Amino acid sequence: MEKATLTIGEQVIELPVIIGTEGEKDIDIQQLRAKTGFITYDPGYGNTGSCSSAITFIDGEVGILRYRGIPIEQFDRPNPDFIEVVFLVIFGHLPTRNELSEFKNMLRENEHLHESMKHHFEGFPPYAPPMASLSAMINAMSCFHPELLKLDEEGSFEEASARLISKIRTIAAYSYRHSKGLPLMYPQPDYEYCANFLHMMFSLPNKPYKASKEIEDAMNLIFLLHADHEQNCSTSTVRMVGSSQANLFASCASGVCALWGPLHGGANLAVIEMLEEIHKGGLSPEKCIEMAKDKDSKFRLMGFGHRVYKNYDPRARILKKACDKVLDKLGIKDPLLDIARKLEELALKDSYFVERKLYPNVDFYSGIIMRAIGIPTEMFPVMFSIGRLPGWIAQWKEQNEMPGAKISRPRQIYIGETIHNYIPIEDRK
Ligand code: ACO
Repeated sequence: MEKATLTIGEQVIELPVIIGTEGEKDIDIQQLRAKTGFITYDPGYGNTGSCSSAITFIDGEVGILRYRGIPIEQFDRPNPDFIEVVFLVIFGHLPTRNELSEFKNMLRENEHLHESMKHHFEGFPPYAPPMASLSAMINAMSCFHPELLKLDEEGSFEEASARLISKIRTIAAYSYRHSKGLPLMYPQPDYEYCANFLHMMFSLPNKPYKASKEIEDAMNLIFLLHADHEQNCSTSTVRMVGSSQANLFASCASGVCALWGPLHGGANLAVIEMLEEIHKGGLSPEKCIEMAKDKDSKFRLMGFGHRVYKNYDPRARILKKACDKVLDKLGIKDPLLDIARKLEELALKDSYFVERKLYPNVDFYSGIIMRAIGIPTEMFPVMFSIGRLPGWIAQWKEQNEMPGAKISRPRQIYIGETIHNYIPIEDRK
């Protein structure tokens, strides 16, 4: 086995080297502190492998993303099916016809919310951020399905994941309907996953909504492109919470919270806000680029840059193409798309972005497609959560099944005051 040699002063130690199936090289430092007294320092974990995983492979330098070994581009098909990808990501293989239809039946059986759970929505004010309602309701599922909190019995994991995957879209649609004061629409059992979600979002009791094929395909594509992305912020959060053996619902609810921030799942919303500001004339594309480069300004070019991709994000490449196709088919001319293209053109020839290898990420074009579908901007991070849920579930399962799994507990370098004595309040100045 290959070893790495580390010299610290007089001490020389050997550390095991681990090579992944795609040739990624890691130095195993688990024994470092015990042998040397040193720990490693890596704020933001940019250089830390927190686990080994067989779910998703990314080569950010080249712009490669694969689910269970299959390149992401191969899911951009004439009839994209998010549920097929959900099955692949969670259970590790492409489903047979039978497996897929059985899994879809399970989703159908689980699409309703417990009637008492629906009352929770009434407790939220109409202006409640949808991500707050979503995480609260996913966590609340722990109260309604205590039998699924311990997933030791065969089949209970499959049932818990089907419940989550199915109910997240019902919860998402209901939180939107509640915020608008609209009646909650029951799911339609004969609709496919995305069509059913869009029905619950947009149907009225006297005016049913049935998504067109173009819209249903676009929704499937957006969800499946978000299905997993290895150890990103929300997934690491799910693993961190799950490492204490917290249940699947609680762990996934924490993933929603992590995804909420503008540097992660909130970026798709921030992109549209930025493009709208440019459109309204408050900002020009050139000014936007200048502000993004200015270190005194807090402004960033939203939808650009990625911790792992130092090349074009392959999901953004697919969505850029899909954007043209969907808007064209729906006969929509969105000025925000022209602005996005202009920003991309300016950024890709600007030395600031070129030197830092900042390219469009998945959020740069997804919001424009979602606008065309009619999804309100405040729901964008919720869409991301629905798409990412299979990844969270798969990673939680993988961690749970890993022999010798440990609770996640990083260390720190203490930089506070050194020891000094307690002063009684009457003696303090
Ligand atoms: N606009 C302007 N400058 C940027 C941007 C940006 N969008 N992104 C990175 N930079 C600059 C940084 O200022 C830094 O410059 P410096 O070296 O002169 O200090 C350099 O590029 C490296 O950036 P970091 O912040 O160190 O990169 P990090 O890996 O920590 O951050 C992140 C990645 C958070 C995605 C960042 O690129 C960003 O904030 N982008 C905008 C928000 C966004 O689109 N988020 C979605 C990410 S994808 C996802 O979650 C699905």
